[in-house]
Amino acid sequence: EKDGYAHYMEKEIYEQPRALRNTMTGRIDEAGQKVVFPDLQLPAETIRSIEKIYIVACGTAYHAGLIGKHVIESLARIPVEVDVASEFRYRRPLFGPNTLTIAVSQSGETADTLAAMREAKRNGSVVLAITNVVGSSIAREADEVITTNAGPEIAVASTKAYTSQLIAFYLWGMYLAQEKAALAPAEIASLIQSLQQLPGQVEDILAHAQQLRQFAEAIKDERHLFFIGRGIDHAVSMEGSLKLKEISYIHSEAYAAGELKHGTLALIEEGTRVVALSTQDALHEKMISNITEVKARGANVLGITHEDHVDLHRSVDDVCLIPKTDALFTPVLAVIPLQLIAYYTSVVLGNDVDRPRNLAKSVTVE
Ligand code: M6R
Repeated sequence: EKDGYAHYMEKEIYEQPRALRNTMTGRIDEAGQKVVFPDLQLPAETIRSIEKIYIVACGTAYHAGLIGKHVIESLARIPVEVDVASEFRYRRPLFGPNTLTIAVSQSGETADTLAAMREAKRNGSVVLAITNVVGSSIAREADEVITTNAGPEIAVASTKAYTSQLIAFYLWGMYLAQEKAALAPAEIASLIQSLQQLPGQVEDILAHAQQLRQFAEAIKDERHLFFIGRGIDHAVSMEGSLKLKEISYIHSEAYAAGELKHGTLALIEEGTRVVALSTQDALHEKMISNITEVKARGANVLGITHEDHVDLHRSVDDVCLIPKTDALFTPVLAVIPLQLIAYYTSVVLGNDVDRPRNLAKSVTVE
């Protein structure tokens, strides 16, 4: 059932192109001009009146939510707050009459996320679930559901569920923008075109996966690592760091690159490994400065960037190139090398990749 792959995690990493296509299927009109959600019942009037959005989720789904915030705010211009589900109901969140809550969960059974969405419902909020499991508790209790259709995810470390959740957020953000007329039809059509190229671009990255096996060999004895990035690259760094901790047991921290100099830079010494993400053209120069700061303290840096910034070679020790896409869509591509780094490191260390210690696939206690 692993289809010749050594682990479920490897299989699921390689299933991503198909999973992403499946998340898009039936949600783009035939002409490729509009986003459609045939299953959603939400009246157009309700959609147009949304004034605020909460996203609640845990772990990897929370990291997808952080990207979702960038996407919805930038495309539909609606303010979004993202909360770790286990914290949400204890902070007495503020609900207005037009607040939408989005609960994100691969399994649809996570107790913390379920409790957070119940809190939202109690406060009169409409709840939209983004989940991979049809008929799950979260799907049943939500008012509306967007299924990710990524297929069963068995490995504890989530991979294809995350990238499919990102696709769901892109579609939802574009849909809101379209219904609110926050974007011109031509802008939506052009985003749809870039979105449809993502599965093929993920295939291109996976074709060069072996390159990252060497990096895994190089970091296997490290005690700690840093992942740095700005904007959505910071959110992707958080996911890369979680993945590595979860299955390699090597400690790492994800940092907003500009924030390092406010304290964490003290931890950088000769040979400290840093993975630096720079996928955003508007932030590239600033990232180079931050990379220079860590290099000056002796860091060994792997840079991840897209094809237009080959010049990054001059500032780092190694470069991993990803294909170019729209600025908002880079997380789908940038996370692939990070998943592979975590996977290969776990393999090299001889860990139980699919069933890491102390963890369960679905966390049904609060
Ligand atoms: O099933 P869910 O998406 O609700 O699960 C949430 C987290 O428990 C989950 O993403 C966890 O962080 C993963 N093991 C990360 O790889």
